[in-house]
Amino acid sequence: MKKTSKVIRTQSQRSQNREHSVPIYMTSSYVFDSAEQARSLFANEENGPIYSRYSNPNTDEFIEKLCVLEGAEDGVAVASGMAAMFSSLASFLKSSDHIVVSRSVFGSTHQIVTKILPGWGIQYTYVDGTDNNAWVRAIRPYTKMFFCETPSNPALDVLDLPFLGNLAKEKNIILNVDNCFATPILQTPLTFGAGLVTHSATKFIDGQGRSLGGAILGNSELIEQVRFFTRHTGPAMSPFNGWLLSKSLETLSLRMERHSETALWIAQSLDDHPTLSKIHYPFLSNDPGYTRAKKQMNGGGGILSFVHRNGLEGGRNFLDRLEMISRTANLGDSRSTATHPASTTHSKLSLDERLEVGITDGLIRISVGLEDKEDILSDILQALETK
Ligand SMILES: Cc1ncc(COP(=O)(O)O)c(C=O)c1O
Repeated sequence: MKKTSKVIRTQSQRSQNREHSVPIYMTSSYVFDSAEQARSLFANEENGPIYSRYSNPNTDEFIEKLCVLEGAEDGVAVASGMAAMFSSLASFLKSSDHIVVSRSVFGSTHQIVTKILPGWGIQYTYVDGTDNNAWVRAIRPYTKMFFCETPSNPALDVLDLPFLGNLAKEKNIILNVDNCFATPILQTPLTFGAGLVTHSATKFIDGQGRSLGGAILGNSELIEQVRFFTRHTGPAMSPFNGWLLSKSLETLSLRMERHSETALWIAQSLDDHPTLSKIHYPFLSNDPGYTRAKKQMNGGGGILSFVHRNGLEGGRNFLDRLEMISRTANLGDSRSTATHPASTTHSKLSLDERLEVGITDGLIRISVGLEDKEDILSDILQALETK
């Protein structure tokens, strides 16, 4: 079967009720038939659920499907995207290790890297992720991991995945890619040499803004280390969210196609707009990331951002004028959403820090939903009108 069929047909074993759609296993633990079975399950001599902090049929099914899409051997489901980012770092990094991080990463990832890990003796170097030489220059003898997002949130920087994958392999460094914006439908970092792929499943994977979730995927050896960490520290995904997100994966490819098609059309339609000084969208032919994106992605994704010429005031006015598009911090929803990072998600950064990651005062991030494309564009156009 093709991946898109396999993800739809993958299902955990049917119960005695022969259900077509998988039930939700809301149970914290599982019964052992005998003392011997309990022993052998704990000894990993047989497979099966023991306790929902370790595994559960719903979260297992979610991971099995995500592994199909990412081309991964194994994975672990966790409670949120940040639980995935943190577990993927903390499972491998030890005191005096060093990590190289692309400067354009999600705000909470930035806090983990700059505030939490250094307290445990883990050093970091930030680089401009789009500059291949910067990654080479940043490597130290104790560099254990490269961490990046591509396309990045919210500036949509596109990093050179084949280059980073090769460099990481050559130097025996784990390349860890947050694949939240592209999803495995548009980009599979493991095929370019990444060791780990991390997700906020809260975004496009859920796709309807209902639940939080995260995942870490990779080869069996690395994931075993992550599983040890999560089993004993407890950031487990709930069975209900596992059930919801597993069903969501069955429609992910259709949704990503439509998100990408509409977002490209909107980006092209706004390209010469007099109120905007810049538009970022990886599949827009004049975008700095275009050539790379075309090589490593199957579509540009559902996020675009643009810069309002009237800076902070222009960005805030634009948000206030929106009629259909929701003003909210989430993204990846079937409903289009808009965010003004400088006055909200990134308002705690200094101006210099914001500019370093491409967040100018007038930057607006749009998560293009599944509504009719004409309705989305006309809301954006009317909100851009200056009286
Ligand atoms: C790129 C990226 N990574 C990680 C996260 C964190 O995910 P969560 O909110 O599910 O913890 C986000 C949230 O917006 C994100 O955009």
